[in-house]
Amino acid sequence: MERLYLETNEHRKASECFLIIGGNHLNGEVEIDCAKNSLLPIIAATILVEGEVELRKVPLYSDVLVMCDIIRHLGGKAVFNGENLIIDCSGLDKNCLPNELSASVRSSIFTLGPILGRMRSAKVAYPGGCDIGLRPIDLHLKGVRELGAKVVEKNGYIYASGEKLKSGDIILSFPSVGATENLMMLAVAIEGETRIFNPAREPEINDLQDFINACGGDVSGAGSNAIVIKGGKKLHGTSFKAMPDRIETGTYIIASVMCGGEVVLKNCNPQHNNALLSKLSKTACKITAKDDIIKIEARSRPISFGEVETAVYPGFPTDLQAPMTALASVSDGYSLVVENLFEARSKHVGELLKMGCDIKTRNGITIINGREKLYGADVFSPDLRGGASLVLAGLVAEGYTTIENIKLIDRGYYKLAEKLQRLGGDIKRLEISRRGCDS
Ligand code: EPZ
Repeated sequence: MERLYLETNEHRKASECFLIIGGNHLNGEVEIDCAKNSLLPIIAATILVEGEVELRKVPLYSDVLVMCDIIRHLGGKAVFNGENLIIDCSGLDKNCLPNELSASVRSSIFTLGPILGRMRSAKVAYPGGCDIGLRPIDLHLKGVRELGAKVVEKNGYIYASGEKLKSGDIILSFPSVGATENLMMLAVAIEGETRIFNPAREPEINDLQDFINACGGDVSGAGSNAIVIKGGKKLHGTSFKAMPDRIETGTYIIASVMCGGEVVLKNCNPQHNNALLSKLSKTACKITAKDDIIKIEARSRPISFGEVETAVYPGFPTDLQAPMTALASVSDGYSLVVENLFEARSKHVGELLKMGCDIKTRNGITIINGREKLYGADVFSPDLRGGASLVLAGLVAEGYTTIENIKLIDRGYYKLAEKLQRLGGDIKRLEISRRGCDS
């Protein structure tokens, strides 16, 4: 394969892409990593802890590395000791998060509550994150105000002062994952009982609760319709292992169904994937789950799963919407995919069309007519999970597929190419040097 040169006026710079040759079955075992969306708020929560925290077996998701940079910027310590991440915020001496750190990840907003709780004032630039919609933070700020903080938004920063923080009841108008986590962490630093009604019930909320309690906090009710935080206790260091990543799990399950073969996933929590597993029971594959193992046996072309609508947990996860669209693209029959949580989470469709998919999408409603065959193409990862859907499509497409902008995929999948290669997938990570196109 000749080197990849891409037309651009940008400075010469090396970036990376995936090169995939489709058609291989997947067979073998994969170990699921700890959950990105659990580790990110937990790293933010270490801001509240006086003492050393050891997070065990932390994958090098790029979002995790950014959160470590944020901790260091604030004056804390964040170092890897092998696979374990050691964080110590005893020496925290800053309460300001600049745009260059905050704007690259959504999880930077999770530091607002802990910084405000610890330092009693915070200045945090607006967060970034995948371009899948507006991603407002009004529910975060409304809750922080209801806990007594004075919040002003100015020049791209959120200024919060907490001289008068007080515990109390908060009712979320929408069960936002991030707002629930932010407010849990702020409430931990406020004397008295705070209750959060209509909270998010995602498993990552339970994990955050477990982490805070392992540090000596007193939080209960995660997964129910009210979370109760008895705040004001000093948090001490601990050693903690985050839950398995349910979205990585779902991505490998879908990849196995699409490619065919026999795959065993280890270090899973099958409970967390009930919505997906019930959808896939119709697609002619055999999936068995026992303890922390999920086994997928796929011997024939999948049959359409029918329809899927994304919802808050325990409904179908929005983060698996794009991978499911890729599955539908090769399944026998028509499928309907409805995205209810994010208003711009279908950019992957434009890229899938380049691979011969038969898809129509409008206002979050996507109809897919499954094809027997897709064709390799040069495509571009629009966001983390959209990029994952392109990898899945490339694994089954005839011929070569190159996927650019894979740094977005690295945000939430660790060693994706290596793991798929071990299963038999023909996928390589290539460095591409950009130059003006040859005449
Ligand atoms: C978290 O994002 C996850 N990210 C997302 O995963 C996930 O898709 C999402 O939860 C839903 O499960 C992390 O945990 C780092 P939300 P978050 O607040 O907290 C609206 C991935 O691919 N909303 O539950 O931003 C919002 O616009 C990422 O791993 C407000 O209106 O999600 C959206 O429509 C993508 N106001 C809905 O709620 C607010 O103040 C869900 O957002 C906050 C949110």
